[in-house]
Amino acid sequence: MKVLIATDKPFAKVAVDGIRTVVEGAGFELALLEKYTEKAQLLDAVKDANAIIIRSDIIDAEVLDAAKELKIVVRAGAGYDNVDLAAATAHGVVVMNTPGQNSNAVAELVLGMLVYGVRNFYNGTSGTELKGKKLGILAYGNVGRNVARIAKGFGMEVYAYDAYCPADVIEKDGVKALASTADLFKACQIISLHIPATAETKGSINYELMNSMPKGAIVVNTARKEVIDEAGLTKMFEERPDFKYLSDIQPAIHADLAARFADRYFATPKKMGAQTSEANINAGIAAAEQIVDFIKNGNLKFKVN
Ligand code: 3PG
Repeated sequence: MKVLIATDKPFAKVAVDGIRTVVEGAGFELALLEKYTEKAQLLDAVKDANAIIIRSDIIDAEVLDAAKELKIVVRAGAGYDNVDLAAATAHGVVVMNTPGQNSNAVAELVLGMLVYGVRNFYNGTSGTELKGKKLGILAYGNVGRNVARIAKGFGMEVYAYDAYCPADVIEKDGVKALASTADLFKACQIISLHIPATAETKGSINYELMNSMPKGAIVVNTARKEVIDEAGLTKMFEERPDFKYLSDIQPAIHADLAARFADRYFATPKKMGAQTSEANINAGIAAAEQIVDFIKNGNLKFKVN
């Protein structure tokens, strides 16, 4: 039984060591493809793999066609929009994610980016504090909950809206539940996005929503670039000199925004929310354990297709 780690953005070495211990402990073999630059390398590496551990790596029909021995793909992380689920199902391949395993790392980055933003990217000028500001969390899943917990430590007033999470669950955490995305944007000066990229959410964060935010508006995006309407984002920068956008995923218009609005726009060079040893260990080892449990016992607990 061969397990392949295929990660364009590698895990910390300590996480790979942990994955190896789980995989070899089960009597399986581990192969590693890191920092590949061509899809051909991935197509070649998957040929004899029975199981693959990925991160944001693209698993499409072509990869699945090449992976003739494949039984399972585990996305070591939360979002699985990078996997063609219909094609996987058609190929008889199980797809899983590892929900919650990297969420604290992403949440810590949110607050880190917010401090960076409100302190004017550490340019030496006088900024503002987060204490007392209204933070709106859009989607109260694993990351959203961690953001709420940490933001409360900063003394922020925390609000959330989640189409799938009941208000009483949100309010139990001392977070005010609002009735819609529109209400959240209207109420909060700072919005943190935690929605997945789906047909429904793509382009949903538009000019109208962002422009309804109070003065000094900041949107922080550690979710997916696809959820932002980029024409609307440009318009916000052009029309609202008070607006800042902080992102862990560069939009397609990154170069333009970076050139024109450098004092109000920041994006990490490569998505790094989940780039901590802890998150890599948690998500990577969970992925390895899920593979072993699926192959040995047929456990489908985290199946998403
Ligand atoms: C996730 O969906 O788990 C996060 O976006 C992290 O993605 P990454 O593993 O590519 O860093």
